[in-house]
Amino acid sequence: MTTIENVNIIELPKFTDPRGNLSFVEQLNHIPFEIKRTYWLYDVPGGECRGGHAYKENKEFIIALSGSFDVIIEDGVNKKVFHLNRSYYGLFVPKGLWREMDNFSTNSLALILSSTKYDVKDYIRDYNEYLVFKGL
Ligand code: TYD
Repeated sequence: MTTIENVNIIELPKFTDPRGNLSFVEQLNHIPFEIKRTYWLYDVPGGECRGGHAYKENKEFIIALSGSFDVIIEDGVNKKVFHLNRSYYGLFVPKGLWREMDNFSTNSLALILSSTKYDVKDYIRDYNEYLVFKGL
């Protein structure tokens, strides 16, 4: 069963340069899945919370390209908060975990690389339904 122990921060390559730094990410190299979709969250008003749900199949990699925010992961038993604030770190979130994002700083930009195309049927939006899905 997937737990919060399977969530991990991955450090990406970083080329520091007086002209400006550069980082990158490659599928199946730095992250353990093929990228089918990319989306981003921006202009998030202070105090807002996004993404209170789980995915049955979709895996994701979340990067704070600008600013900072928290990613809260729950597996039905335990909960962990990951604070992202550097563009060369990302959070790998396997499928089957409950995740929310909050504490967005002004002008923060969250980039999310996803392993599946958008599929509304892949979402679990009710926490009790999530616990049933996990067999808890
Ligand atoms: P959603 O993932 O439900 O965000 P949140 O859980 O933070 O509320 O996305 C919000 C809306 O955006 C959703 O109703 C449909 C649309 N959407 C897409 O069409 N494609 C996508 O890849 C994503 C992530 C969302």
